[in-house]
Amino acid sequence: MGSSLLILFFSLFLLHLPFACNANLHKTHRFRLDLRPQPSLKDAPITRYFEVTKPIELPKTKPCSYLILQHDFGYTYTLPPVLANYTPPSNCYSQDFSKIVLEWTATCKGRQFDRIFGVWLSGVEILRSCTAEPRATGIVWTVKKDITRYSSLLKNPQTLAVYLGNVVDQTYTGIYHVNITFHFYPAEVPQNTHKRNSANSVSGFVSPADLVLPISRNLPLNDGLWFLIENSTDVQKKEFKIPQNSYRAVLEVYVSFHSDDEFWYTNPPNEYIEANNLTDLPGNGPFREVVVSLDESVVGAVYPFTVIYTGGVNPLLWRPITGIGSFNLPSYDIEITPFLGKILDGDNHKFGFSVTNALDVWYIDANLHLWLDSNRERTEGKLLRHTSPRPQVSLVQHFKGLNGFFITTASRSILSSGWVKSSHGMITTYSVQGFSFRNSMEMKDNFNVQIVNQTIEACNRVFAKLPSSFIYSVESKQKFPLYLYSANVDPGNGSFLSLANLSLGFNEDRFSGAKSGFSSSSLRNLQNGQGSMFIEGNLVVGGLGSTEQLYAYDSSKECYFRNVSSKNYTVLYDEKRDICDKKSLRGLGFRLSRWWSLSARGSF
Ligand SMILES: *[C@@H]1O[C@H](CO)[C@@H](O)[C@H](O)[C@H]1NC(C)=O
Ligand SMILES: *[C@@H]1O[C@H](CO)[C@@H](O)[C@H](O)[C@H]1NC(C)=O
Ligand SMILES: *[C@@H]1O[C@H](CO)[C@@H](O)[C@H](O)[C@H]1NC(C)=O
Ligand SMILES: *[C@@H]1O[C@H](CO)[C@@H](O)[C@H](O)[C@H]1NC(C)=O
Ligand SMILES: *[C@@H]1O[C@H](CO)[C@@H](O)[C@H](O)[C@H]1NC(C)=O
Ligand SMILES: *[C@@H]1O[C@H](CO)[C@@H](O)[C@H](O)[C@H]1NC(C)=O
Ligand SMILES: *[C@@H]1O[C@H](CO)[C@@H](O)[C@H](O)[C@H]1NC(C)=O
Ligand SMILES: *[C@@H]1O[C@H](CO)[C@@H](O)[C@H](O)[C@H]1NC(C)=O
Repeated sequence: MGSSLLILFFSLFLLHLPFACNANLHKTHRFRLDLRPQPSLKDAPITRYFEVTKPIELPKTKPCSYLILQHDFGYTYTLPPVLANYTPPSNCYSQDFSKIVLEWTATCKGRQFDRIFGVWLSGVEILRSCTAEPRATGIVWTVKKDITRYSSLLKNPQTLAVYLGNVVDQTYTGIYHVNITFHFYPAEVPQNTHKRNSANSVSGFVSPADLVLPISRNLPLNDGLWFLIENSTDVQKKEFKIPQNSYRAVLEVYVSFHSDDEFWYTNPPNEYIEANNLTDLPGNGPFREVVVSLDESVVGAVYPFTVIYTGGVNPLLWRPITGIGSFNLPSYDIEITPFLGKILDGDNHKFGFSVTNALDVWYIDANLHLWLDSNRERTEGKLLRHTSPRPQVSLVQHFKGLNGFFITTASRSILSSGWVKSSHGMITTYSVQGFSFRNSMEMKDNFNVQIVNQTIEACNRVFAKLPSSFIYSVESKQKFPLYLYSANVDPGNGSFLSLANLSLGFNEDRFSGAKSGFSSSSLRNLQNGQGSMFIEGNLVVGGLGSTEQLYAYDSSKECYFRNVSSKNYTVLYDEKRDICDKKSLRGLGFRLSRWWSLSARGSF
């Protein structure tokens, strides 16, 4: 028990600090620390934080832009979400939009934790994000998100709701000053509206849904509209009813994890915790999966990307480059079309959400995207095949006292197929989800060193056909590598030195094909970070963080490459390219794969 890491854990658990990227005010986490306030430099420029991502591909038309909300988020914790009335952009010179972009811009100054927040339009979540941690001299950051897939909602007046649970007191002074703007980009050439309804082309499969239903909690609420999943048996359910002329359905799931499960991939198994009397440490091992059920039967799963929020692991790593996904958390699509036959009856049905091995707390909600048959009042459907066996999970462990080694693996697949008869014909849809998970965790030096090496792979395939012809196929393969080395060194003078080496990757290959053509894209996005912190009590009294990021996106239409690094709040180098140079990309692919293998990351 003399080890510094344990004392650090326990001393932190005694504190009563507001929780970062979380709503829980009464607990804190081993990685959750506060920085000693820095002196405010006179006339110092404000720092611009950013997440590395490719720019949104925009039409060349002039956008019509509207400020939807301007609000200062001071003490907002446990208050109702901030509301605003959204009205469609009737003053715009065109009403035919090919792209709609949400822009979040915020400034903050002083001291504050990172806070999770959500933006909803009449209950449909359109952005899940985390705030940046400010500094005394002030910061600013902007998030742009393509919200074209919610076009059908944006055609009518809606209520915009934003929940950002902030706490402001004498110590945590940071108030978030926020603007939300929508940019509407008219189409370059008028979009062919008959094509959409023609029975032959079924182009509706590639356009945004005709209706998006919220699968979230209803207002009024003194919280976000997300459901809270607090433990492994907790199932949160929502009733819904769909129009009887639906012919396609996709459930988009939003997920974030906090408090005891913020770093779920570092949680040791309960046996280790019990054997070592570490009862305040979060446990249940490192495997988590979000399970989605429809009327009690499992229809899909999510193996989520390990988003690290702006105060996570070592807050100094994320200034000004922030963690992958932290400003715009990914959402996950589950094809529901094969199950339409079960829910086209005009009755209420229920989606349920649970998280295997969950500890308090996961924030989950979803949007049901529906495509409607404008030529029929009713469609009909039948589920042909559905298998969703339990995941295969295995744990190999060996530990003696506080030192040990654990390998957790899991895999799962969910298959479904079904037909829907609409004015487009009798379309059969096949859907397959496949997942694999591997986590190795090593504790050394009496748990003063922890090394986690994890890889998540997720594959989603959807294929739709008429009896005699193919309609479309979409496939995505994601691979999320994570390596985290963390060590605490006790210099024996009452402070601790905490070291972290991190490697975090988000890789995705997408392929889609329809009669009108095929497209494919590949994304390799990797961050390597090194951080050190001197900690006294719960204060980081010194330290340094540096992060390098390589981002390479390549598709038949557009390319984007970025090689950027930051250290001690300063960008060291930043190289950007947006031209598709196949030859140089091939050379780059080699350099990248070498870089990735050197930093212990694989690619597909
Ligand atoms: C928000 O918009 C207002 C009005 O355009 C502007 O004065 C203010 O500086 C903006 N604030 C932020 C954080 O961008
Ligand atoms: C799990 O969470 C639910 C919802 O808060 C609660 O009702 C239930 O008692 C909890 N179960 C356990 C075993 O703690
Ligand atoms: C854990 O606590 C129990 C009872 O308090 C004690 O008997 C046991 O020796 C402790 N084990 C360790 C490893 O400290
Ligand atoms: C402890 O030692 C480290 C490294 O020598 C130093 O940076 C830190 O300020 C010292 N802490 C105290 C409380 O003396
Ligand atoms: C952590 O990263 C630094 C800098 O890249 C490197 O020198 C060190 O060997 C790494 N440590 C481990 C344990 O990976
Ligand atoms: C990224 O930039 C750094 C500094 O210019 C350079 O050393 C490195 O080779 C670059 N990496 C790639 C993959 O281009
Ligand atoms: C970090 O940058 C500041 C200036 O912004 C400088 O005063 C400080 O010495 C730097 N720290 C390190 C460890 O380089
Ligand atoms: C991480 O695990 C993968 C296998 O899943 C292995 O290929 C890789 O070498 C490991 N990385 C390190 C740094 O141990």
